[in-house]
Amino acid sequence: MKTSQKKNLNLNTLLFSLALATSIASASQGNSQDLRTPIFVTAAERVALLAEMRHFLDTVQEISAAATENDMETVSQTAAAVGMKLARTTPPALLKKFPASFSEMAATTHISFDELSLSASVSDEPLEIVAELADIMLICTACHGSYRFEVE
Ligand code: HEC
Repeated sequence: MKTSQKKNLNLNTLLFSLALATSIASASQGNSQDLRTPIFVTAAERVALLAEMRHFLDTVQEISAAATENDMETVSQTAAAVGMKLARTTPPALLKKFPASFSEMAATTHISFDELSLSASVSDEPLEIVAELADIMLICTACHGSYRFEVE
């Protein structure tokens, strides 16, 4: 079994456990109720969290563009910048406010970017990179379907 397939299995186990929560949240889209679980943070924490989210989106854009050009060095560096190294900068006071499943999805996202960085350092198959990125984005969408930030 290829390494990327093994990784996909781990991801799928996590995503399966989240599927129910997400489908309940999506079902809310037909009416005006927001059923995503609120996470209460300070105004400054929310600003920092949303900036980190935009960094994630920039990362996804840069990796897609670099993979298209078979520029694996850029893919590897861009992915590593949002790996566990970045997760370790989250203040402990903020970590305490996160529900367990939120923390699990956040950690899996950072770890998956480290794995993507590693894949890019040994692969010359852009499509493998894009497929791995598509799998990571399932965690982005699962979490977005489940949670929102509210100022406490
Ligand atoms: C662990 C949960 C989680 C993960 C994983 C996650 N996000 Fe988010 N993201 C959120 C929450 C919560 C919000 C705020 C939504 C709200 O309050 O309406 C958000 C907001 C955003 C925003 C809006 C930022 C703004 O300025 O308003 C972007 C863009 C974003 N996320 C991108 C991503 C991308 C890309 C990924 C995956 C690489 C990702 N996120 C992974 C939870 C997550």
